[in-house]
Amino acid sequence: MQIQQAADGFSAWHGERKDNRVETERLEIRGGRQLDGSIAVSGAKNAVLPIMAACLLTRGRSVLHRVPRLRDVETMIGILRSLGMHVDWLGPHTLSLEPTSNPAPVPQGELVRAMRGSICVLGPLLATHGVAAVPLPGGCVIGARPIDLHLFGLGRLGASITEQDDIVIARAERLRGAEMVLAGPRGSTVTGTANVLMAAALAEGRTVINAAAAEPEIADLCRYLASCGAAIDGIGTNRLVIEGVKELHGAEHTVIPDRIEAGTYLVAAAITGGTVKLTGACEAHMTALLDVLREMGAHLRCQETDISLSMGSDLLAASCETAPHPGVPTDMQPQLTALMCTASGISQVHERVYPDRTTHVPELEHMGARFSVSGSRIQVHGSSLSGAAVHAKDLRAGAALVLAGLAADGLTIVTGLDQLDRGYEGLEERLRKLGADVQRVAAGRLTA
Ligand code: EPU
Repeated sequence: MQIQQAADGFSAWHGERKDNRVETERLEIRGGRQLDGSIAVSGAKNAVLPIMAACLLTRGRSVLHRVPRLRDVETMIGILRSLGMHVDWLGPHTLSLEPTSNPAPVPQGELVRAMRGSICVLGPLLATHGVAAVPLPGGCVIGARPIDLHLFGLGRLGASITEQDDIVIARAERLRGAEMVLAGPRGSTVTGTANVLMAAALAEGRTVINAAAAEPEIADLCRYLASCGAAIDGIGTNRLVIEGVKELHGAEHTVIPDRIEAGTYLVAAAITGGTVKLTGACEAHMTALLDVLREMGAHLRCQETDISLSMGSDLLAASCETAPHPGVPTDMQPQLTALMCTASGISQVHERVYPDRTTHVPELEHMGARFSVSGSRIQVHGSSLSGAAVHAKDLRAGAALVLAGLAADGLTIVTGLDQLDRGYEGLEERLRKLGADVQRVAAGRLTA
């Protein structure tokens, strides 16, 4: 009966689509199974994207290990190839990148517009060509994502910036080091710090970035650049000091584990009352998130690069707010919100980085969740979830819906998989390995 309801909901929803986009696939999740097993954490999407862009700054080949097989990575490969770079997979997760001696300064616009992270090519192109023309990355459902701080920082290095038909054009005969503050209204900017840092690596003299993003992904970019010959002090802190060098060489680098993927699987264990061990994880990158999970009643055991979560008792309500690192990451907010839906009592989340990151809320309501939303504050009233047809409008919202489906009674159908595939490698295979009942089904087929 419930399966039929979810299927009817799917057909009704499908019929109502106004944007004429054809859904090619969906996930069908039959909830209620406790997850049990172990998962190897992938390389971090948000580390590898700027590191791939940073290869534009180098002469010679770089080899990156632990590169996740994601749609965003494929998009970045397409962008770099459109700039003339040789990019080849050497193994399942090993990527070789070698810039040509005469690269193009303009990336393919369609690819740039497909993904926000593509803005990371702006700094390297400016530094190597003296001019860069990069289409503005497309709109985003998680709210305003301006690039004014990227442009401000590059301007401080001497670039003149113009905008024409949604294309940002940056020019500088010579970049010169400068001191700047990259703080925005809700903290520093992650990819803005990456852009300025990459340009500063080849600028003349010293650059000081105050209020730099201290996210582990930026520290990983710094380590890659340092192994290419860049001189960077303050790695992992909010003050980066970069002494420009004349040239950078290629290097071999292993990407850090993805703390958001890791956190998502921990929540999968917690929401199903199961036990999951992550291997190849980094506890130090996840402290604030682990604290929230402990507050909700999870038992966590961290040993070297393993993190195990098991649920001892019932899930408890909790309160948290998102913040730049080392705070609770905004990229875990939708998943934590889904978890709070199944906890007893009233939980609170204050989304301080992207106040409009709430597209998962109405979808979770279809599944029986109860919320009171006031601006960027989400109050979650614990209840039980039941299967429904829901749609992922952004990557982390999609993760939240899958997690809710794992805990829900009956069948949940999740569409919008193009979003999920941007950031989770082999999601359904890995969940199945942990014991979940999850299938990827082509459009038009019902398996019930
Ligand atoms: N901001 C400005 N001006 C700017 C840039 C940002 O005011 O020029 C504001 C934003 O509006 C936002 C805050 O600063 O309120 C943070 O934005 P940030 O620039 O740090 O975000 P981003 O670099 O575009 C990266 C990740 C996001 C992640 C955020 C925050 C990549 C490719 N993306 O985005 O990841 O949410 O940092 O940690 O690294 C995801 O993986 O699902 C994702 C959205």
